[in-house]
Amino acid sequence: MSADLIVVGSGLFGLTIAERAANDLGLRVALIDRRNHIGGNAYSENDPATGIEVHRYGAHLFHTSNERVWEYVNRFTTFTNYVHKVYTSHAGEVYPMPVNLGTINQFFRAAYSPAEARALIAEQAAELGDKTPENFVEKGISLIGRPLYEAFIKHYTAKQWQTDPEQLEASIISRLPVRYTYDNRYFNDTHEGLPTQGYTAWLERMADHPLIDVRLGTDYFDTSQEINRDTVRGNVPVVYTGPVDRYFDYSEGELGWRTIDLEEEVLPIEDFQGTSVMNYPDADVPYTRIHEFRHFHPERDYTKDATIIMREYSRFAGRDDEPYYPINTDADRSGLLKYRDQAKAEPKVLFGGRLGTYKYLDMHMAIGSALSMFDNKIKPHFAEGAPLE
Ligand code: FAD
Ligand code: NA
Repeated sequence: MSADLIVVGSGLFGLTIAERAANDLGLRVALIDRRNHIGGNAYSENDPATGIEVHRYGAHLFHTSNERVWEYVNRFTTFTNYVHKVYTSHAGEVYPMPVNLGTINQFFRAAYSPAEARALIAEQAAELGDKTPENFVEKGISLIGRPLYEAFIKHYTAKQWQTDPEQLEASIISRLPVRYTYDNRYFNDTHEGLPTQGYTAWLERMADHPLIDVRLGTDYFDTSQEINRDTVRGNVPVVYTGPVDRYFDYSEGELGWRTIDLEEEVLPIEDFQGTSVMNYPDADVPYTRIHEFRHFHPERDYTKDATIIMREYSRFAGRDDEPYYPINTDADRSGLLKYRDQAKAEPKVLFGGRLGTYKYLDMHMAIGSALSMFDNKIKPHFAEGAPLE
């Protein structure tokens, strides 16, 4: 094995590290992934029958206010001017999300001004008086009042967590955004858009360098592979972006994750729902939302004979499921602290990314965090001989 640096995981964190190490430091990088494609959860592919780009691990919208990340990603792709908006279908009516003045006025059949709406929600949110919210339901009511909470949040959250909200901790929500204007743009960031030629073109361009040796279908714990934890440990510098509990053989217990199931359907019509994402916040619908992929790229000349939708269901992840969102119970948090100590002590291995740090990271955060790790740890190690820790 002739690599200067091994990167485990070819998601946006690992890709950023590999790209910088090859281009900036001239290092030979082995980039390994157990999946048979690069890009981690941002991966997408064009459906062969319809040509419609489908995000394989759930819809991915790029947005950032970080100028350094924006400049960096634009080295590999341009972005369309797509602006994300979400609607929600409650009790036979469709409302704009997140909750804004349009949602409030439609819901209460009113024409409130911003000040009137603010006063109404404050009055409804005061229902609990001085009582400290004891669970998720009370916290939700204290933030946006009972009517809006019950319509748009309660069952949606119950479906996401497969748990009665009375049993969920108040700490799951710290704020629920309510906008007292008609602005229903989903993200507030300076930059937003979708990669013009698709995610995979972008991700492949990051890995396209003669010094980057991409090895797919390679699990880092498979001891029949040339590169695996046992052969590498302590010998070659590693950036590991897989699950931290797995790396240490679950010695401190398994960290909890939620996963999603995505049910794809190709329909023989031009347009199913008229928008890219429709939430379903009611208890009698089993899925949380439906994505319709053609609407992410209105600028493309997609077929009018078919459309692709994906229903999204949420549940707790078992060990063999894809881990998507950290659950973060008290037990998870204390386990994580112990894993962090082990990670620090692990020679020549840096842990990064969503799975390596047990943190939900948006794409721009994964990239930003990888750029920082490169500047603060990898470059000083290779350029100045600083220890890798
Ligand atoms: P990942 O993309 O998860 O990559 C980790 C890689 O490590 C994987 O390819 C995995 O196969 C590999 N790996 C794991 N274990 C091993 C092993 N033992 N051996 C070899 N390889 C291994 N972000 C946004 O900005 N906008 C969005 O709209 C958005 N939507 C999302 C929707 C969902 C459902 C999810 C789950 C995430 C979403 N994200 C979104 C977040 C985005 O996916 C992450 O920012 C990104 O995945 C982080 O990259 P990463 O490299 O840390 O992890
Ligand atoms: Na370490």
